[in-house]
Amino acid sequence: MSDIEDLTTTELLRPSELVKPIDRKAEAEAAGRGGRPQADLSVRLAGIPLRSPIVTASGCFASGKEIAEFMDLRVLGAVVVKSMTLEPWQGKPPPRMVETPSGMLNAIGLQNKGVDYFLRYDLQALNAAKVPVIASIAGNTQQEFVRVADRLRGAPGVIAVEVNISCPNLEDRSSMFSHDPKATAGVIGNVRRCLEVPVFAKLSPNVTSITDIAGAALDAGAAGLSLINTLLGMAIDIETGKPRLGGVMGGLSGPAIRPVAVRAVYEVRQAYPDVPIIGMGGVMDYKDALEMIWAGANAVAIGTANFIDPRSTLDITRGIERFLVEHGIRSLSRLRALSGPRSSPPAPSATPASAAPSPGAPPSAPLSRR
Ligand SMILES: Cc1cc2nc3c(=O)[nH]c(=O)nc-3n(C[C@H](O)[C@H](O)[C@H](O)COP(=O)(O)O)c2cc1C
Repeated sequence: MSDIEDLTTTELLRPSELVKPIDRKAEAEAAGRGGRPQADLSVRLAGIPLRSPIVTASGCFASGKEIAEFMDLRVLGAVVVKSMTLEPWQGKPPPRMVETPSGMLNAIGLQNKGVDYFLRYDLQALNAAKVPVIASIAGNTQQEFVRVADRLRGAPGVIAVEVNISCPNLEDRSSMFSHDPKATAGVIGNVRRCLEVPVFAKLSPNVTSITDIAGAALDAGAAGLSLINTLLGMAIDIETGKPRLGGVMGGLSGPAIRPVAVRAVYEVRQAYPDVPIIGMGGVMDYKDALEMIWAGANAVAIGTANFIDPRSTLDITRGIERFLVEHGIRSLSRLRALSGPRSSPPAPSATPASAAPSPGAPPSAPLSRR
């Protein structure tokens, strides 16, 4: 692939002849309306029933309506939208995205049209597409987070709010909120108090101990965690010696960060066996998604893969379903029940298929037909 430069996410995701046109019948079958689903992929996330564990990662699915041209969004568990702020943000100067041999770097700078635009236009389109929405919010100050959250209270179709605390905290010399337990707890506690829906804290991997930050978020009332945001990175053009990103440094995403993400999910899962986790970072296909589930994720968000193929969430969903069918497992909750803490693996025959998801851990035995 060539360099992706100076493009917003929306521009990148315009229809292209490289992508097959939507096959409505196949989509209907995949969504379980036109035909029988072969395996039950439904999960519960902080008490919310989702038809699938596959959701989109914030900032990687445009506003949702663009992708609706390629696939039926009802296949998804939820759409996590681009982080929104109180007022529109311009974002960072171009180039905003570059590819490296080991992943994608972006410095979009949270360009967005503000929460009121989201409520008025984007949310309506997502509601019309009948897909649950997880609203992602950001801000430069605690007060800004609270004001955005306040606007979202009671918004139709918004099943949860993801708090992107991986953006600069202007009140504290521009370090990230999620790099400090106190700042994390401050934002999460205040946001949670003004919302009725579950609040997910989206954490940064660029810390010494992600479990410490996770603990601060949970103590402050986060219902769940989104793990992980991008890793800080940089690329330099050797001809000019200049940074390749307009914003100089940016966030690394894609396959390069998957082992870091799997480790983060696993580590937090070991520390907090019951906390709802949305795992993400370099999930490119169904095998990667299953790896994230084994690590302990209840749901899996797909980010960079959407830039390669806007239908990747659909392919990943079908891949998981095929995997379950091929292994004789009738539901995802059954698969999760086969995992569990290493010290006490549940007896497969004693665990009902409808059992609540148990913490993930590598299976005690290889998955043969069960
Ligand atoms: C272009 C781009 C824009 C992003 N924008 C946001 C954002 O607005 N809010 C946020 O919480 N994360 C944002 N992210 C981070 C992703 O949601 C995700 O956490 C990260 O990319 C790791 O997943 P991936 O490797 O599957 O992309 C963005 C990532 C990319 C690549």
